[in-house]
Amino acid sequence: MFPVDKRTAQNVWYPAADVVPEVCFAVDEVPIAQWNEATDIESLAESIAPTLARHGASPFDFLWSMERHFSEPYGPLAKATRTIMAGIPDMFLADEDALPETASRYEREGVLGEQSHLNRIAQSDVRVEAKPYQYEPGDDMPDDYRFWLGKMFFAHGECMMPYFGEAAKGHQSMFSAIDKFSMQAAPNPESRLRMSNFSNEEFKHTYQFYKLYHEYDPDIPVNIYEREREQFRAYEGTKMEPSWLDRGIFNMIADRFGVYQGFEWVQSSYAPLARVALKVVKDERGHANMGYIHVREALESGGKTAREEAERRLAEYWYPQFMASFGASDSRNNENWRRWGLKQHTNDQLRVAFDREMREVLDSLGLETPDFEAATERGLEWARQLKKKRQAAPALNQ
Ligand SMILES: [Fe+2]
Ligand SMILES: [Fe+2]
Repeated sequence: MFPVDKRTAQNVWYPAADVVPEVCFAVDEVPIAQWNEATDIESLAESIAPTLARHGASPFDFLWSMERHFSEPYGPLAKATRTIMAGIPDMFLADEDALPETASRYEREGVLGEQSHLNRIAQSDVRVEAKPYQYEPGDDMPDDYRFWLGKMFFAHGECMMPYFGEAAKGHQSMFSAIDKFSMQAAPNPESRLRMSNFSNEEFKHTYQFYKLYHEYDPDIPVNIYEREREQFRAYEGTKMEPSWLDRGIFNMIADRFGVYQGFEWVQSSYAPLARVALKVVKDERGHANMGYIHVREALESGGKTAREEAERRLAEYWYPQFMASFGASDSRNNENWRRWGLKQHTNDQLRVAFDREMREVLDSLGLETPDFEAATERGLEWARQLKKKRQAAPALNQ
């Protein structure tokens, strides 16, 4: 019997940002008996290939859709093999001995446990002073820990409209303008559905982080909101072009950046952050996949012109910008966050891993990947220029 119920797959796919309705229609048609006969997803994909083809869906899209929702730690299937669409990179897997009683089977016995050596290498230049899941909101914490945790709350994350309840009335999400553009620019009903699902999920993240900040200190959500209003860091210096293809590239690269950011927290010493990160990372994978689907479609329908536009935008802007988003190589913030178990890797380690994954993504789309060193150097130079211009709170920059 196949370990994932067909009806569960039918239910989780539609509300996801990376829903491929063609896959859903095909699965609707597969008899439950045929579904249950399969022993693994590869044989299932093979068995239903004619039905997928009839609905214009590819086995590749079926496979990663299954892996993203049902591979460990999100479901009973084995570790995802289509890593660029569904996987958790090995570098984020941590030391089994350090995990709390409440850690899931996946965290305890699964791939997290297998990779403890990588975690130790990552930490070899600092003495780590807090274990994964060490602190809960009401706990006594060293003053220095509180300082760096607070700094991280302000520097990262889903803080674009952290008011909920009465205080939220009259406020709009800071992403509302760009979301409106996306809904208007979406070229077909399927991409409109994905954009709408995407906005809902981002709103859910805002809520999840609102709860997390509020639980730590009720003033933090408001303070973050006011600060972001003055200087919206997520888009500061972002030069998006008003085209659907550019918006697709943005999701493919920016939400993937969010994936890497979130993975850094799945073993956080601040337990609420560790718990929420694993959930958010799953959604961010979906957002990056949505971008991937939209870019793939734009390249298929737009031919050589679309290909040239994508390569131009990646080379002249997106690649340098996002290589630099991981922060400077000698970041003092990063060092302190690792010391307190709030991050696992150096900015350079993350940058290299991200480049490796992006190279696979762009190869699969037949796009050229910009040179890593040159893009990083350029992006970091832009970041230095931007930092010079900033008036407010320079100490909060990565
Ligand atoms: Fe998000
Ligand atoms: Fe996202």
